[in-house]
Amino acid sequence: MLRSSFLRRGYNKVAGIFGRAEAKKQDFPVLEGHPAAQESAEVALESRVTVQDNVKKVMKEFRIYRWNPDRPDSKPFLQSYHVDLSECGPMVLDALQKIKAENDSSLSYRRSCREGICGSCAMNIGGTNTVACLKPIDGDTSKPTIIIPLPHMFVIKDLVVDLTNFYQQYKSIEPWLKTNMVPKDGREYRQSPADRKKLDGLYECILCACCTTSCPSYWWNPEEYLGPAALLHAYRWICDSAPPPPPPPKKKKKHKNKTLSDSRDELTEERLQALTEDERKLYRCRAIKNCTATCPKGLDPADAIHKMKTKHMLSQPMEMVEIM
Ligand code: SF4
Ligand code: SF4
Ligand code: FES
Repeated sequence: MLRSSFLRRGYNKVAGIFGRAEAKKQDFPVLEGHPAAQESAEVALESRVTVQDNVKKVMKEFRIYRWNPDRPDSKPFLQSYHVDLSECGPMVLDALQKIKAENDSSLSYRRSCREGICGSCAMNIGGTNTVACLKPIDGDTSKPTIIIPLPHMFVIKDLVVDLTNFYQQYKSIEPWLKTNMVPKDGREYRQSPADRKKLDGLYECILCACCTTSCPSYWWNPEEYLGPAALLHAYRWICDSAPPPPPPPKKKKKHKNKTLSDSRDELTEERLQALTEDERKLYRCRAIKNCTATCPKGLDPADAIHKMKTKHMLSQPMEMVEIM
């Protein structure tokens, strides 16, 4: 009882400061028979309303790319939405969710995990490709945040782009373990902790396509050039961070250099050959490094591409290297 009257006095004091009348009685049937809990609930509810009434609204403008395939004659445009940041989560995806829930249910975008794991909420926010759930809202309310789809991609609707080509290119590098060995225990291909460590910086990729769609070489050659995301995954199966020694002049050993790929994979050389049989797949990278600059997971596809080129060039006769 002492605690509840203390609460009530505290509430009345706060209500007085904010210019509210004394707390009104509210009924919470579920708390029947628990007067202290009833009073606490009343106070909590009232103070929430009081604070909400008195917190200054912080309005932020978002200009979002809109295009509807059902109206093919209408041109795409940027639509303005104003969001009260005092009632919104901290990330751009929170603002999109709020707009969709409260302002405009026709707004389309992809999202799933809302914590940077699935890669589906990739878009261009304020001029940078990133995932909306990891991008904090810019608190500067004097200027709008502009949100458009990933650049140079076919738009399906609003912020949703067609990733068919992107996934086909990923599939083309055959991103799965290939080996003729039988696992020792008949069930699992095991790795030592040291071999597993070599996959750091590779396995974290969430295939969001931010890097690939930021790459000018990919914009110009989206069919031929595989792009940084697919190449980062190819790198996992082709080499680790150490450049390989030059091959012996005549006899080349096949499938034996276990230090130069995922320790369980045996087809390193075949993979490299497949990647370089059409030089446009790999060599269209011009080391512009937009990919590395934009990756929301902090990965370095440009470095992986550079190392694969190095590995391939070292395995070639000098005349071939000069024309690459
Ligand atoms: S380094 Fe430049 S050219 Fe190469 S993949 Fe990255 S952005 Fe594209
Ligand atoms: S490397 Fe980075 S930007 Fe590219 S797909 Fe993977 S997570 Fe996304
Ligand atoms: S919702 Fe999954 S990465 Fe953003």
